[in-house]
Amino acid sequence: MTKLFTPIEFKQVQLKNRIVMSPMCMYSCMEQDGKITPFHETHYVSRAVGQAGLVMTEATAVMPEGRISHEDLGIWRDEHIDGLKQLNEQLHSCGAKTGIQLAHAGRKARLNSEIFAPSALAFNESSKTPSEMTKEDIMNTIQAFKDGAERAGKAGFDIIEIHGAHGYLANQFLSPLTNKREDEFGGSRENRYRFMSQLIEAVKTVWDGPLFVRISTDEYDPNGNTLDDILYFAEQMKQQGVDLIDCSSGGVVPASIKPYPGYQLRRCETIKQEASIATGAVGLITTGLQTEEILQNDRADLVLIGRALLRNPYWPKAAADELSESLPAPRQYERGWK
Ligand SMILES: Cc1cc2nc3c(=O)[nH]c(=O)nc-3n(C[C@H](O)[C@H](O)[C@H](O)COP(=O)(O)O)c2cc1C
Repeated sequence: MTKLFTPIEFKQVQLKNRIVMSPMCMYSCMEQDGKITPFHETHYVSRAVGQAGLVMTEATAVMPEGRISHEDLGIWRDEHIDGLKQLNEQLHSCGAKTGIQLAHAGRKARLNSEIFAPSALAFNESSKTPSEMTKEDIMNTIQAFKDGAERAGKAGFDIIEIHGAHGYLANQFLSPLTNKREDEFGGSRENRYRFMSQLIEAVKTVWDGPLFVRISTDEYDPNGNTLDDILYFAEQMKQQGVDLIDCSSGGVVPASIKPYPGYQLRRCETIKQEASIATGAVGLITTGLQTEEILQNDRADLVLIGRALLRNPYWPKAAADELSESLPAPRQYERGWK
């Protein structure tokens, strides 16, 4: 059997294969209220029918001021639970496991209201300058991640992922490019990790299921976090009981990136080996053969598929055909599957 279609377990949660729908913002909430719409249901359920093992939601805001746009999904109020619960029921009925990416955009929020970040530095010339977070803001934000995690549990998610990548709030604390604080949350890498560390601990008080963290493993800037810093963060996460590091890159500062197939893999593999923690590979992974090379060579434990799954919700079927693997059809689709 191919590794792509070999089940894998995180805590008590078994994924039927290693294919994860990568978190992708759809900016599709109708009333700027963060609630699930029929579009979201169709969009996510299609990928579950298409046999992705794990369907991960897009970045879902734990605070309204932490949205990238007014159209982002949210989990900052109890009223968000019902829609997410219904979505989970549908995804589960298709045999998929479900994950939610808990997020806060920090200085990358494109909102009319005040925005917040570790330091008062704008992302670029056309972005707003954020307010530097006070200690109270930091504590309230950590509490919001904890509350979001608790609501995610009530909504029936199997896995939680903290969004610590792409230059959003948690990443802004981690990076020396965006964190110029002089208190215990800034300066040394131990201090820059403190916010993430406290987020993880807060989430763990209300969540005992699998916990993933997405990080930017490369900031494409000579003054950004080094590989050594990234490995330090990964080791801390491992010690704190994080189950998997989802290895993305970039987004911290404007930088020119030249992506190529598997461009984020090298650091993903290094983190897996050096920090002895499971990793997820993502970034221009588009073929079954590519996933087999990654998984068979232990370069990652999961593959996250983004745009290829937007193009084709049945990407798992295409990968199975390419690898001469027989993939069971959804019962309703058996007559059309061969
Ligand atoms: C439309 C779109 C929205 C995205 N939104 C998110 C997001 O909400 N959270 C996140 O971590 N990454 C997000 N990403 C990045 C993807 O998860 C993925 O890492 C990236 O597209 C590279 O993988 P791919 O080459 O398979 O598309 C987004 C990408 C796309 C194309």
